[in-house]
Amino acid sequence: MLSQEKALKILEECGLPQGIVDHSKAVSKRAGEIAGEIEEVDEKQLKIAGLLHDIGKARCIGNGNDKPISEHSIESKKMLEEIDQNNLAEICEKHSFRILAKKDLDEYSLEDKILIISDMQTKGSEKVSLEKRYEDLLSRYPNDSESLKKALPKLKKIRSELESTMMKRGKGNKLDIEYNMVDFHEEQTLHRRIAGKLRTGEHSRSYY
Ligand SMILES: [Fe+2]
Repeated sequence: MLSQEKALKILEECGLPQGIVDHSKAVSKRAGEIAGEIEEVDEKQLKIAGLLHDIGKARCIGNGNDKPISEHSIESKKMLEEIDQNNLAEICEKHSFRILAKKDLDEYSLEDKILIISDMQTKGSEKVSLEKRYEDLLSRYPNDSESLKKALPKLKKIRSELESTMMKRGKGNKLDIEYNMVDFHEEQTLHRRIAGKLRTGEHSRSYY
């Protein structure tokens, strides 16, 4: 397996914008935190997957990079296969909500689930609730709203599954920091709000 140092070097040298590098480091930290509370998973591997899950964006963003951003996780997979990291390649490919929207949850291992929730609780470098991140993605990728809508119930299911696994281990913490506090907007309200933002051009364009 790759060392943490080597993974960090790959991340920092693959030509990604600094925002995505910082996001990847934050996802790695979050994946390590969750994995640390679930004994049967490899914490080290998950931290590395966090660092490298978005490297495929290096082939989507910037001069001469023509892959659509929607395919970044497939590009991450290819890049990792090119360096013989097939296990990591599979976990990283599946972190995208676009892939989750199409796949059955049975096809996701515990590791896959931890990575996707870690990414879905990290907006830029900030730790946020799944709901906040969902809203963020919806505002930046309005063309992917169908995939997001399909992925949301699966994401919630993954969150509660991981949470009960953690509880069974005797860990008291709730997985989602704002889970109990957030007055989560009904999906309809959320979509109306996003539509308003889109109309006024308030949504931003960044690709983490
Ligand atoms: Fe990400």
